[in-house]
Amino acid sequence: MSSLIKRLVSIAPMMEHTDKHFRYLIRCISKHSLLFTEMITSAAIINGDHKKLLSFNVVEHPIAVQIGGRDIEEILSASLIAESYGYDEINLNIGCPSSSVQNGGFGACLMLDKKHVGDIVHTLSNNVKIPISIKCRIGVDDLDTYSFLYDFIKEVSSSRCNIFYVHARKALLSGVSPRDNRRIPKLDYDRVYKLKQDFPHLEIILNGGVNSLENYSDIINHVDGVMIGRTAYKNPYILSDVDSHIYNSPGLVDSIKGIACQYLDYVSQQRITKLFHLTKHMQGLWYGRQNAAVFRRLVTEPSCTVKQIQEFIAKAN
Ligand SMILES: Cc1cc2nc3c(=O)[nH]c(=O)nc-3n(C[C@H](O)[C@H](O)[C@H](O)COP(=O)(O)O)c2cc1C
Repeated sequence: MSSLIKRLVSIAPMMEHTDKHFRYLIRCISKHSLLFTEMITSAAIINGDHKKLLSFNVVEHPIAVQIGGRDIEEILSASLIAESYGYDEINLNIGCPSSSVQNGGFGACLMLDKKHVGDIVHTLSNNVKIPISIKCRIGVDDLDTYSFLYDFIKEVSSSRCNIFYVHARKALLSGVSPRDNRRIPKLDYDRVYKLKQDFPHLEIILNGGVNSLENYSDIINHVDGVMIGRTAYKNPYILSDVDSHIYNSPGLVDSIKGIACQYLDYVSQQRITKLFHLTKHMQGLWYGRQNAAVFRRLVTEPSCTVKQIQEFIAKAN
């Protein structure tokens, strides 16, 4: 399975967004996009309820688990546990700038220690059978030259990592919230394109600001794939052409209403009291259509019921 993954389109890891329920919704729209879990720390996998953290639905394949951590042995143990759950790829978070992640010495600040990242990758690639990948930024604070990025990729790839998801903006480690860290530093696609020119043997996937399939067509001339974050949550139906247009496979036959009904069937089957934790992921489904705001309010309301959503769908154009 793992060697067959086509990373033409990936759905970015997003905390509190890309849980298994949202991923199921995406699977109702695109069968081939590569899905990612939210970041899970290696400590949480080892010390917490890993069944709760790692279990997923078989329809979610291909799926990568994103791990955040610093300690090599701990990351290895967590990766072996994740591998045993059947994930298709282990991805290391080397891009998160949040202060809690910095306090743990991982995320974007690990870009400042390429040797350590290389050591993590080396250990994993010797012990884990599924592919290991990195998600990183193009720089950190003032270390934002192309040669800094080049040296990082060179060191880490020489430790047998061949797959890099590169968020095309640098990380600012202080004075800016994680939210603003996805907005304020400028996107620089040319940096990522140059990486692919300089490392043609590596799989380089561009992330940041990809919000349409037209966008995709330009970018894919330069790199191996795109990773889509916020747009996939805000307007998931945008992925409806991915299978037919990008993966050349039979496309989606369902309308937005059909997808909503399919997801509601899934929601109804879950034994969960707070259904709104599942229905909230539908909030972008009506994006750009009549009554989008009404729908969003309805599905994010804690008291929302499946019946109310079915009634909305029945009346919708
Ligand atoms: C709510 C939210 C949570 C995020 N959580 C993670 C995460 O857990 N791991 C990670 O590597 N990136 C995380 N990111 C960053 C995204 O993966 C992505 O790199 C970023 O949003 C840029 O892509 P976009 O412009 O397509 O949204 C998060 C982004 C958002 C909006």
